[in-house]
Order: sequence, then structure tokens, then C-alpha cells
Amino acid sequence: MSNFKIIVANWKMNPSIFEGIELLKSINQSIVRKKISSKIVICPPSLIIRDAIRIFSNSSISVGSQDCHYAQIGPFTGDLSYKMFEDIGCEYSIIGHSERRANHFESNKLIFEKLNSLNKSKIMPILCVGESFDEKNSGKASEAVIRQINESGINELEFKQKIIAYEPIWAIGSGKTPTKDEIMTIHGKIREKLNSKPNSNNIKVLYGGSVNVENASDIFSIKGVDGALIGGASLKQADFIKIIESVKI
Ligand code: PGA
Repeated sequence: MSNFKIIVANWKMNPSIFEGIELLKSINQSIVRKKISSKIVICPPSLIIRDAIRIFSNSSISVGSQDCHYAQIGPFTGDLSYKMFEDIGCEYSIIGHSERRANHFESNKLIFEKLNSLNKSKIMPILCVGESFDEKNSGKASEAVIRQINESGINELEFKQKIIAYEPIWAIGSGKTPTKDEIMTIHGKIREKLNSKPNSNNIKVLYGGSVNVENASDIFSIKGVDGALIGGASLKQADFIKIIESVKI
């Protein structure tokens, strides 16, 4: 299954509720009719996750959350627990996205708590890591990424599958992407790090940050790239389907 890729749509806080439901339906309809070798995961805003699960009930598309709280229940105003997402049928959860790290001050320690809780659930985490523009420019990209992996504690946990999304912060939503060599190098380092632990097989390393119709096929062909985490381009049904189709079956 060398061409098996994991393609994750991160809708962030987009689009509106009603447009979102229409988008879920149209993605479902287009995918049902196609022969697809990849695993497709849609992470819509939490308020339409149950709609997504219902719409995809007869398809192979899975649904994920964009974050979760590490506690099962409790006095955490505005939060949603990992257990709640599990109970409604979410199969994946994005953890440690750079927008959460920046806007909600999420630390590696908090990310560890989330991974630790998910480890007790059926939900598969998609751990996001990535360097800042300054870290890249000072030649510290892989150091920054490995630090995030170490401090998140993912190496100590035994997930059925470990999914890491390498997302350089400067590439997110900017239209800029690293070179193929840069992506290959960091992916290699991540894999090397996770491989250094026993029982850490079944590691998937995705690339994220300005993946679009034009560059998807090139990105999927890079050695060590097991798929993509896609923001902006996953909100345009035609583009998203073209990206999925750019994986050679
Ligand atoms: P982008 O976002 O594809 O719009 O760059 C990716 C992400 O933030 O996961």
C-alpha cells in the first residue's frame, strides 16, 4: 500500500454553519463516486461535527476534531472534552496546531496532557509541530521540531498509529512552502526520532502549510511524506477533490 496517504482537512473556524453542511454533503457526494486509495479525515468546526458524522455514515471518510480538552468532564467553560468527541464518533483529533499554541497559549506540557488522555480513548491524535520563520532562518528548524516532539511526550505513549503533521508556522496560510529537500529532511528527522523507541512502528508523518492543487502532487511524491494536513484548499470542494486525486493510485 505504498500509495496510501492520509489527507486531513482542517477547516479551522470556516465556513459558516450552513455553508459547512453543504460542503460536507458535496465532498461526500464527490468522493462516493471515486476510487480513492487515501484515508480522508475532515475536521470541521465542532458545532457541525455531528452533521459530518451523519453525512459520512455510509462513506469511508472519517471525522476529527480540531482540538480537545484533556479532562473527561469538569469546570472548563467553553471547552469540549476528548471523551465527548469520542462519544459522538470522532476518530481523530488535531492536537497542538500552531494557531492553538499561539492564540490559546498551548504549551508542550498541555499538549502532553491531551495526548495522554487521547491515549485512553479510541481517538487518534494528529500532533502538529513546526518551526517559526526565525527558527528556520537561524538553521534551527529540525531542532525546534524535535523539541516539540520530545516535550509533547508522544514517544512515551503507545498509540495504534502516531500521526505527526509537520507544519512550518511560516508556511501556514502564506502560500509559501519549504523546498522538497527541506520537507524530506525534517520528515526524516521526525521518523528517526520516533523510530528510536521500541514499538513505535506505524508512524505517519504528514506535511501541512499551503498545500494546494498546484503543489499537492509534488508534495505527495516526497520520500517520507505520508499525507497532508490541508487548511485553505480544503474549503474549496473542487480543489480538495483534485488534491485527493493527485495521489497516484
Ligand atoms: P493552510 O493551513 O493549508 O491554509 O496553509 C494548514 C493548517 O493550518 O493546518
